[in-house]
Amino acid sequence: MRKVRRRAWVNKPASERVRVLGHRAYVGGGTPEMWYGIGKQQYHWLVSQGLRPDHRFLDIACGSLRLGQYLIPFLNQGQYFGLEPEAELVEKGLAEELLYDIAEIKKPTFAHNYDFDFSFVDGYDYAIAQSLVTHLNLEDTTRLLAGLHKVSGPQSTFFFTFFEGDSARNPKGPSHANKRWRYSFETMAEIGAETGWTLDYIGDWKHKRRQMMIRARPA
Ligand SMILES: C[S@@+](CC[C@H](N)C(=O)[O-])C[C@H]1O[C@@H](n2cnc3c(N)ncnc32)[C@H](O)[C@@H]1O
Repeated sequence: MRKVRRRAWVNKPASERVRVLGHRAYVGGGTPEMWYGIGKQQYHWLVSQGLRPDHRFLDIACGSLRLGQYLIPFLNQGQYFGLEPEAELVEKGLAEELLYDIAEIKKPTFAHNYDFDFSFVDGYDYAIAQSLVTHLNLEDTTRLLAGLHKVSGPQSTFFFTFFEGDSARNPKGPSHANKRWRYSFETMAEIGAETGWTLDYIGDWKHKRRQMMIRARPA
């Protein structure tokens, strides 16, 4: 019975799923621990890796600003860029997760597309895609790396998380924000090399859902 209900719900269009689940649960932040905890973890991780307020930062699949709620206030004005296909998530994040006049003061920039089109940002110092590749098939993961490479420079560092494991049981068909894909690091390194990146395995960064971390730099 539960399976039938999930199948009906999971096949609805993304915009409908956002409305049904709410802007936090849609991105996997349905409890305060998962909402604030995963946001704070990304924030502290990036600062520990050298992110400074004057850097230009790209939040890929920024969702409803689980990370943005911390990074937008931290970064200097105009330095936060977010890509998120579901515009409603960003609208909810701006309206409900940022306090006071932070958005007006810091002026974050957003783009909305599923095409890995990063032309709205002219280079970046740090980027992260937390829990994006976990929802992408291999073809889209390759498109992500190829698209991002076009706006990357020698100073750019890109972190992304993935579920490490056997890809034989991955879902068939298109990428889906509420389904999971697993890969080996070797597969990630291969498509990284094909698209112009050198990948380093960081692995366990204490993610609550056991997503592993990779650091990518233009080769
Ligand atoms: C699990 S959520 C993670 C969101 C955010 N990174 C966070 O930590 O809260 C996955 C996000 O990826 C977005 N997404 C799905 N396909 C995408 C694509 N092709 N390009 C960019 N974002 C995408 C979804 O809309 C969703 O907001």
